[in-house]
Amino acid sequence: MNIAMIGTGYVGLVTGTCFAEFGHTVSCIDKNAEKITALQNGEMPIYEPGLDVMVRHNVQEGRLSFTTEMAQAIPEADAVFIAVGTPTSRRGDGYADLTYIHAAARELAPFLQGYTVVVDKSTVPIGTARQVERIIRETRPDADFDMASNPEFLREGAALGDFMRPDRVVIGVESPQAEQVLRAIYKPLFLRDTPIVSTGIETAELTKYAANAFLAVKISYINEIANVCEAVGANVSDLAKAIGMDGRIGNKFLHPGPGYGGSCFPKDTLALMRIVQEYGENVRIVSAAVEVNAAQKARMVKKIREMLGGSETGKSIAILGLTFKPETDDMRDAPALTILPALLEKGALLRVHDPQGMPEARKMLPEGITYVGSAYEAVQDADCVVLMTEWNQYRALDLGKLRRLMRQPIFIDLRNVYDPETLRRLGFAYTGVGRK
Ligand code: UDX
Repeated sequence: MNIAMIGTGYVGLVTGTCFAEFGHTVSCIDKNAEKITALQNGEMPIYEPGLDVMVRHNVQEGRLSFTTEMAQAIPEADAVFIAVGTPTSRRGDGYADLTYIHAAARELAPFLQGYTVVVDKSTVPIGTARQVERIIRETRPDADFDMASNPEFLREGAALGDFMRPDRVVIGVESPQAEQVLRAIYKPLFLRDTPIVSTGIETAELTKYAANAFLAVKISYINEIANVCEAVGANVSDLAKAIGMDGRIGNKFLHPGPGYGGSCFPKDTLALMRIVQEYGENVRIVSAAVEVNAAQKARMVKKIREMLGGSETGKSIAILGLTFKPETDDMRDAPALTILPALLEKGALLRVHDPQGMPEARKMLPEGITYVGSAYEAVQDADCVVLMTEWNQYRALDLGKLRRLMRQPIFIDLRNVYDPETLRRLGFAYTGVGRK
């Protein structure tokens, strides 16, 4: 198959590269010429484990190329994927901004040649595929194309593995011909018995929101239960293990923490709330999950304050991890973006470290934070250490060294990585989330 991928953001780049790895010929298109030149030279715009190697390999094999020109990629394509950004609208109303999607539709239309399937890959409100279809029809009434929706369920940091071994592939199609093209594209997966769920276009569009909102609900649920555990003296880790063994509940996404972040859950939950409002419907459970998530971040600030004896003013706080989760440099909606400014505002001195996220964090966090090169530098003379993101390199810290470097041995473990008893035996005052 010959595939054009519009947008070399996270989803476009990963998807395009993986399609090339499947053996298809893929052209990735982006307006940003600098980004395209960098990609042509094998430089990645994002950090995703294994992506650089896979990109270079497929470029060398001649299956993957990068261009700024629609004219070069669209005419040949059997399928054109739209994977441009859909940021939350600047109006601050929770709607997804579809400007880039609409622009892509207008720009690709003149170059369509022969039968083509145009596929929405970006996470978009219900009805967007129809809008794209209308725009293309208006621009090119003679074009021979079908519209499809193919939501992605990739996790950052694990995207290549998720792509190659998905639980399922969802394709929203309306014609047998379009279904055939998409099935041919994903053929290497069903040779591995991956189920393909073929649905209508609206169903596919809503599936993505429903899946992400469910996971956000699950996390907010366990965060609230963790808070109840703290109140009654129960242990959320044991509890999560016990309830997770019920196959109906499942053990994934039951880790309490400082609240979910990232490019998907915060954005998609808000967008879903807005979308259903338009239809006069409600997703109260999702609204509650969003509220709980905001409260959870605020609660973490309070937790740190309490561990410091009631005030963070003038205290030196070491923060380990800034990104919304490990194995990514992505800072979007990271809990650190709420928690750190709140601490700074109260006059705390922050020494922070993150293996990948510091360049982004510098752009997004207020001035006055000290960025350092290692966890041990961060804890130097600190009054407490806060483990914010569970990077592997923070899972096996030399705790004796940590204790010697710190002014006060206070360990605040927002990801429940460490065993409370071990820490206490080593002389730390320890608190996690939802544990005694
Ligand atoms: C998510 C979905 O998993 C993916 O299917 C979708 O396509 C995009 O959104 P991602 O945002 O990359 O992926 O990260 P994920 O690993 O799902 O974590 C999201 C957030 O939830 C992180 O902040 C993480 O720390 C938090 N989380 C996750 C918890 O707090 N507890 C958990 O048990 C799981």
